[in-house]
Amino acid sequence: MFDIQEIRSQFSILDREVNGKPLVYLDNAATSQKPNSVLEVCHAYYTELNANVHRGIHTLSQLATEEMELSRRKIQKFINAEQDFEVIFTKGTTEGLNLIAYILTQKLKKDDEIIISYLEHHSNIVPWQMLCERTGAKLRVIPIDENGILQMDRFDQFLSEKTKVVSVNQVSNALGIVNPVEEIIAKTRKNTDAYIVIDGAQSAPHFNIDVQKLDCDFFVFSGHKMYAPMGTGVLYGKREILEALPPFHGGGEMIATCSFEGTTYAGLPFKYEAGTPNVGGNIALGAAVDFINRIGHTNIQNHENALLEYAQRQLLELEGIKIYGEKAKRTGVVSFNLEGVGIASDVGMILDKMGIAVRTGHHCTQPIMDFFNIAGTVRASFAVYNTFEEIDILVEGVKKAQRMLS
Ligand code: ALA
Repeated sequence: MFDIQEIRSQFSILDREVNGKPLVYLDNAATSQKPNSVLEVCHAYYTELNANVHRGIHTLSQLATEEMELSRRKIQKFINAEQDFEVIFTKGTTEGLNLIAYILTQKLKKDDEIIISYLEHHSNIVPWQMLCERTGAKLRVIPIDENGILQMDRFDQFLSEKTKVVSVNQVSNALGIVNPVEEIIAKTRKNTDAYIVIDGAQSAPHFNIDVQKLDCDFFVFSGHKMYAPMGTGVLYGKREILEALPPFHGGGEMIATCSFEGTTYAGLPFKYEAGTPNVGGNIALGAAVDFINRIGHTNIQNHENALLEYAQRQLLELEGIKIYGEKAKRTGVVSFNLEGVGIASDVGMILDKMGIAVRTGHHCTQPIMDFFNIAGTVRASFAVYNTFEEIDILVEGVKKAQRMLS
């Protein structure tokens, strides 16, 4: 049974005030709040367990290692990876994408092609541009229509024997649009031997992820957007692909043997986990998975979809509001501007005075803003603990901003 008050009671921060008003936190696509169960795991790690992992014979090191590896197995189950060693701990989605783009360097040559989409976050654009600079490969970008929907006929035209990488997000961070990744993956597999990368930063907090069913080669996401601490994230890669590709960072933990004559590399996952990991954070990411599992994906999605529908309906009742991607299939995000109000941050500041946290600006997606010929949007993004009353407060805030700024 879905009890929103019980869920909210697990997030102490939701009781605080901002600018003398109860906090209305609607910036979850930037980072979610953390439940007390996750915070307690972090605290317990540093007060009872703190030790480096995979290195020590002493008890604390072994206990810390066991906890971190238990978390890896929870994440394996969470995304339905075949093997736990296909789950690589990272700092977040950006690191995951950079890692993949780096280790594919030797696989690409001049005039090969990398397909991304117009809806990508800068972190799924820039690493590929850097890979193009290193190799002479070319970037192809799936365009969008006026609703923000990917033009799949253009994608079909792009696919060829030159296509070596296809990397798209499952959900757009700026607009919340859900992309047809199943179709993209199926078509890519059928027509090419390209590596398929899915950026799950904005889908992992909302959807049930099944990497085997998706049949992607890589899937990356951040912990901090799904109730876990900052600086945590996951790169999933298929075993045979990760085994065949070179390492990313060199250092401790990732070697099998090291001498001045040469070094051999450790097996998975350690080959890609050089240096001391964020042990406490990685363990807490497992606790975040537990939190999500306790509520259940269906409950989370039903609630968040109802919030989105309600928010969109209420906002559209106002005069002069433009919602980007209004007609597209979306999750968790409503991104909008007010007619006659050129600067989204002005709206954001008025909302902030009312205790409402939204993100304003280009959301690290400047190409989308260029497409719509705007500098930025006001973005409200939802998590499982948000309420319909909070959306009423947002709508009141938007009305106030309209009055003050038009
Ligand atoms: N990528 C994060 C966002 O969309 C930071 O806000």
